[in-house]
Amino acid sequence: MKELLLLNGPNLNLLGEREPGVYGAVTLEDIERQVRDICKQEGWQLKSFQSNHEGDLVDAIHEARHSSKGIIFNPGAYTHTSVALRDAISGVNVPMIEVHISNVHKRESFRHTSLLSPVSWGQIVGLGPIGYQLAAKAFIDHFKEDTDDGEAK
Ligand code: DQA
Repeated sequence: MKELLLLNGPNLNLLGEREPGVYGAVTLEDIERQVRDICKQEGWQLKSFQSNHEGDLVDAIHEARHSSKGIIFNPGAYTHTSVALRDAISGVNVPMIEVHISNVHKRESFRHTSLLSPVSWGQIVGLGPIGYQLAAKAFIDHFKEDTDDGEAK
């Protein structure tokens, strides 16, 4: 069965209670359920992982090269700082869609730069939590004709 990895970085475990004016009331559990439902409907499997630790996210990206066709990734604040996460994505042959709940371009200038965007397949920014579902749909659509359940291209 084809698999997607839903990966969330620091502080995203607090969705629903963290700055609701910016990130809304939806929890990470809600998001995981919504994305998993979409995957199930299309015969895909979802693996989900959140960590507040950069190295754990690097490890999850490395593991994805054996199992996942694509990575839906909200790197949180590491978006703007992490060469290690960028190198991890560059180092595995798994396409990544970068998702941000808020419109980072409307916010503080330090959020305007993403070290991950140049190594992403695409980005979804500022649409709220539905961005994660749209990323899943984009991957499923992209791999529609692909019958290979093995390693991601
Ligand atoms: C975020 C935007 C980042 O700048 C911030 O550090 C986050 C969340 C978003 O989803 O809008 O933690 O990635």
